[in-house]
Amino acid sequence: MFIMFTEILRPDYDDKALETAALILKSGGVVVIPTETVYGLAANAFDEKAVEKIFKAKGRPQDNPLIVHICEFDDIYGVAGEVPENARALAGAFWPGPLTIVLPKKDTVPENVSAGLPTVAVRMPSHKLARETIRLCGFPLAAPSANISGFPSPTAFTHVFDDMNSRVDAILDGGECQLGLESTVISLAGETPRLLRPGSVTLTQLRSVIGAVTVDSAVLNPLAEGVQVASPGMKHRHYAPLADVAVIKGSLDDFIVYISANIADGVMALCFEGEEDKLPVGAVSMGREDDPFSQARALFGALRELDARGAKRVYARCPSPEEVGLAVCNRLFRAAEFEILEGTRD
Ligand code: TXA
Ligand code: MG
Repeated sequence: MFIMFTEILRPDYDDKALETAALILKSGGVVVIPTETVYGLAANAFDEKAVEKIFKAKGRPQDNPLIVHICEFDDIYGVAGEVPENARALAGAFWPGPLTIVLPKKDTVPENVSAGLPTVAVRMPSHKLARETIRLCGFPLAAPSANISGFPSPTAFTHVFDDMNSRVDAILDGGECQLGLESTVISLAGETPRLLRPGSVTLTQLRSVIGAVTVDSAVLNPLAEGVQVASPGMKHRHYAPLADVAVIKGSLDDFIVYISANIADGVMALCFEGEEDKLPVGAVSMGREDDPFSQARALFGALRELDARGAKRVYARCPSPEEVGLAVCNRLFRAAEFEILEGTRD
């Protein structure tokens, strides 16, 4: 059980908040930091014991590797054994920002950061508080999303507090995360660049910089039995609220008909903005139907809100999987454990 005292650091009111965070990290502690995507649960990426505390605090399976966060491009040479030209091109185009690049790893990176893989995932966040904290530390920070393993990633201070109070040394309050979904993950460690996890940097953008990029089948499909995973994170139950979620394909009318035929105690809807009043059950919005960025920002908070409102069974509208929508669908389909139903009337 965790009985740690968790210090809340508020840079808005406390000039020393970042220094305090860096001091805790330098002494081998774990601190939750805000990033532009989601909050991260950070520790010194070169300190195996500190990293171990991340796994404990999250209840994270040992076979799921962590992303290493750096604050300057040259820091990449401290963790990656090889930095190919296309990695430099992607970093030039999208760093600092929501893109993680998987590269062959250096021995300096402890085994538990990469979960035993010969590769390391690297990202330079654009969030000022994150980068400044890394700079003050003088070492990169290993940080997964700061949720209890399996639950939706935290995109607001209250989400972090609910999950991590008494499990970490400190939480740095940075308000709401601007993007709301985790970074795009691309592997450059294999023969062709491969998209492992979609995010706000889209496939179109990646291809415009480095040409061909293949899409790992786990991006939109459940894992087939016995298939080897490129990104171990994809094989675990993920992003799921306590409620049982199903995605309903089709129009708003189909959705209304489907829910009307399935009303029961604890049934709620996850819909697009403006649809709430048209539904026969309580509903929470996940952003505007025509704006995947608003969906990305709203999705994880909406899943947590449904739990807070006591939902047991949630029917969700199906976003369009175009561009940033691919990331929204990737997370929502996992939250639904791939229960995707046809809402058509016949
Ligand atoms: O936006 C983000 O990426 C956030 C913020 C905090 O930076 N972090 C994040 O970390 O989402 P996490 O641990 O929740 O997700 C990391 C993903 C997992 O799916 C993991 O399997 C994959 O990246 N990953 C990490 N290292 C890898 C590696 N060496 N090879 C393949 N996949 C890797
Ligand atoms: Mg995560």
